[in-house]
Amino acid sequence: HPIDALIAQLPKTELHLHIEGTLEPELMFALAARNGITLPYADIASLRAAYDFGNLQSFLDLYYAGAGVLQSEQDFYDLTWAYLQRAHADGIVHTEIFFDPQTHTARGIAFASVYHGISRALEAAEAEWGMTSRLIMSFLRHLSEEDGFAVLEQAMPYLSGIDGFGLDSSEAGHPPSKFQRLFARCRQLELPCVAHAGEEGPAAYVCEALELLQVCRIDHGVRSLEDAALVQRLAAERMPLTVCPLSNIKLKVFADLAEHPLRRMLQAGLLAMVNSDDPAYFGGYLADNLLACRRALDLGADEIVQLVRNSFEASWLAPAQKADWQ
Ligand code: ADE
Ligand code: ZN
Repeated sequence: HPIDALIAQLPKTELHLHIEGTLEPELMFALAARNGITLPYADIASLRAAYDFGNLQSFLDLYYAGAGVLQSEQDFYDLTWAYLQRAHADGIVHTEIFFDPQTHTARGIAFASVYHGISRALEAAEAEWGMTSRLIMSFLRHLSEEDGFAVLEQAMPYLSGIDGFGLDSSEAGHPPSKFQRLFARCRQLELPCVAHAGEEGPAAYVCEALELLQVCRIDHGVRSLEDAALVQRLAAERMPLTVCPLSNIKLKVFADLAEHPLRRMLQAGLLAMVNSDDPAYFGGYLADNLLACRRALDLGADEIVQLVRNSFEASWLAPAQKADWQ
C-alpha cells in the first residue's frame, strides 16, 4: 500500500513509551541467565504465549514480574539501547520515554543504576544518530502518595537529567486526586507533569488530572470521548492525548482496531497522536501501530501526516527543533 511507504519514511516522534515495556522475551531470557534468575516459563515461545491479557491489571502483573530480570546499570543500558536501535530503524528522531523507578527501588535496585543505565543509552543515541529524547519519571498509582514522595526524594540528585513526571499503573480505584500533593511538589520543581488517565478509568479521571494535577498532557485519554464538554475543552486547549491503539486492543479497552476512536478524535479537533506504550508486550512498535491503524481504519495520507505533525507539536522539543521537522 502506498501509504505504508509514507509511514516508514516520515521522521517520527514517540511520546508514550514505557522503557520496561520494551523488554523483549529474548532479552528477558538473556538477562535472567546473566543474573542467575529462573523465569517461570520454559522458553521464549511459552512466555510470548502468556501475553494474552484480559485487562490492564493482567498485563501489569506480567510486566512487573518481567522487570525483575533488570538488576545492574548494564541491564538498563542494554534494555534502553535495544529500544533505541529499534526506534531508529522505525524512523523515530525524537522519543520521550517513561521509566518506573519504584518497580526497581522496591526490589533493592539503586535509583542510580536505573537512571544511569537509561541515560547513558539516551546519550549514545544522540551521539550516534542525533536522536533526541526526554526522560519522564513515572509514579506508580497503585502505591501510596507517601511512597511517591520517597522515590521523588531519591530522584533529587538526578533531576538535571529528568525532564518531567508521570503517573501510571492500575488506574481503576486510583484517581489522580490521590496524588494531588505529590504533583504540587513536582510542579514546584518546575518540571512538566503528565498522567495516564481515561485509559480504563472514566472521563472524570481526565478532568481530575487536568484540574488537580495540572498536567500538560494526557496519556491515553480515549475515554474522554464519553464527556462532550471535556472533548471541547481538550480541543480548545490543544491538550495532547498520547493514544496507544495496539495497547488498547491488547488490554481490551476496545474489542477491535476497526472500532478504535482514533479518527473520531482527530475529527473532534483533538491533539491526538499514535504511540506504542509497551511494544514488547502489545505486538508492535510505533510504525506497526500506524500501519495497523492505517489498515483497520483506512486512514488516508492526510490523516497519517496529521498524526505525525500532532506528535511533534505535543513533544517537549524546543520550538526551533520542532520547526526543523515540520
Ligand atoms: N504501565 C505500563 N504500561 C501502562 C499502561 N498502558 N497503563 C498504565 N500503566 C502502565
Ligand atoms: Zn502507558
